[in-house]
Amino acid sequence: MKGFEERDLTPRQIVKELDKYIIGQENAKKNVAIAMRNRWRRMKVTTEIKGDIIPNNILMIGTTGVGKTEIARRIAKITKAPFTKVEASKFTEVGYVGRDVESMVRDLVEQSVNLVKTIKKEQVKEKAKESVERIILDALIPPVSPAPVAMPNKMAVSATSEVPKNDAELNEQTRERFREKIRNGELEDRKIDISIHQPNSSGIGMIGGGMMDESSMINIQEMLGNMLPKKSKKKKVTIAEARRFLLEEETSKLIDMDEVKDEAIEKAENSGIIFIDEIDKIAGNSKKGSGPDVSREGVQRDLLPIVEGSTVNTKYGIIKTDHILFIAAGAFHISKPSDLIPELQGRFPIRVELDNLTKEDFIRILKEPKNALTKQYIALFNSESVEIAFNDDALDLLAEKAFQINEDVENIGARRLHTVMSQILNDFLFDVPDVIGANAKITITVEMVEDKLTSLIKDKDLSQYIL
Ligand SMILES: Nc1ncnc2c1ncn2[C@@H]1O[C@H](COP(=O)(O)OP(=O)(O)OP(=O)(O)O)[C@@H](O)[C@H]1O
Ligand SMILES: [Mg+2]
Repeated sequence: MKGFEERDLTPRQIVKELDKYIIGQENAKKNVAIAMRNRWRRMKVTTEIKGDIIPNNILMIGTTGVGKTEIARRIAKITKAPFTKVEASKFTEVGYVGRDVESMVRDLVEQSVNLVKTIKKEQVKEKAKESVERIILDALIPPVSPAPVAMPNKMAVSATSEVPKNDAELNEQTRERFREKIRNGELEDRKIDISIHQPNSSGIGMIGGGMMDESSMINIQEMLGNMLPKKSKKKKVTIAEARRFLLEEETSKLIDMDEVKDEAIEKAENSGIIFIDEIDKIAGNSKKGSGPDVSREGVQRDLLPIVEGSTVNTKYGIIKTDHILFIAAGAFHISKPSDLIPELQGRFPIRVELDNLTKEDFIRILKEPKNALTKQYIALFNSESVEIAFNDDALDLLAEKAFQINEDVENIGARRLHTVMSQILNDFLFDVPDVIGANAKITITVEMVEDKLTSLIKDKDLSQYIL
């Protein structure tokens, strides 16, 4: 299938990739990997049952900060699938208009368009660079238009006709020399005149007001933008600047937007992922025993057709939502999954519970993921040529303290590591480079952690605000 770029990773390969970023949560990883592969499998099905195979939508249950969002986001990155995240509770807010739940699908298509565009841009990059080079060269050394051949070829031997020929040759030689220079970046500061096209869409943003839905409003804006003549402006810029302006312009000239739209819709339909966070907030509260709240249940009913499969109008075309993968997540402290309306429950057949993170998990989260917090800070200090190292026993204690604060104050999961870490490093971050200069080496020891945290932890009121 053309333009279908989802990577062909097996379930085990997907989990292996996820392991590079997320500690533990094996069950969630496994189920997400299966769901992703199942969609790939569906694409390979050739019989008519293909249309009936529905995605294994997943309901992730776990307290805050244990990796729910992170898993969904990563799976999309790893498989190069279009991804969007939405908070279900947003739809219960005052002033919410029923059909707005469709905006999540429009967002997904928008992401998909961006993805496809990026892929296409990469494909035409070399070609675009060539034409940019040609435009810059033309501005610098305009080509001599080949002299119209006034005389028959036989006469070309005569002395008079050699002059223009030499001119043309000379011109070509000079151009060749300058082409080299441009290519080698020797002339980046030289100024040239170029004409830049300006988009027209600005200034008509008011059309439609509150009368229309988002997609038709955008359509009209785009239509008007296309109808008005494109303004182009002469501008004196350096070659370096010209390169930037022109590359964007030449690239979009080479990309067929209709093709992008079609591919993006197809990609979103078949490999898109919509992550619905805080789904528990729209479930009825079973403890109150008063049955589902009207507005919450209303949101569930609005969600239903989208999750069950329907068509949504977007500015890039109509999209069918049947095979989009929905991953819903929530803590379900107060409500339970069974408090969701039965139809919606049925559309999320896979339930995975995420584990609460232990102190040991915290230690690993601090050290192991590709984007681990310690690695982030090492890179930050490194940008100032300062080396920072964390002793193992210091990280042990840091994890322990973070865990303890979660127990005592409020459990915010791995997010606690961020607040605790910044508490420990803040003074250093402030002192570099004024007090702590380049080439310094900082080692975070267990004493430092003790020193910075103990007094705060003792004072519960204080730690509620600071940590
Ligand atoms: N298991 C884990 N492994 C590595 N990092 C984690 C893990 N769990 C959480 N984190 C880190 O903690 C932060 C918060 O995680 P995430 O956004 O996934 O929480 P969440 O489960 O979606 O919480 P919420 O219910 O509040 O949305 C992220 O920056 C992530 O890097
Ligand atoms: Mg989240």
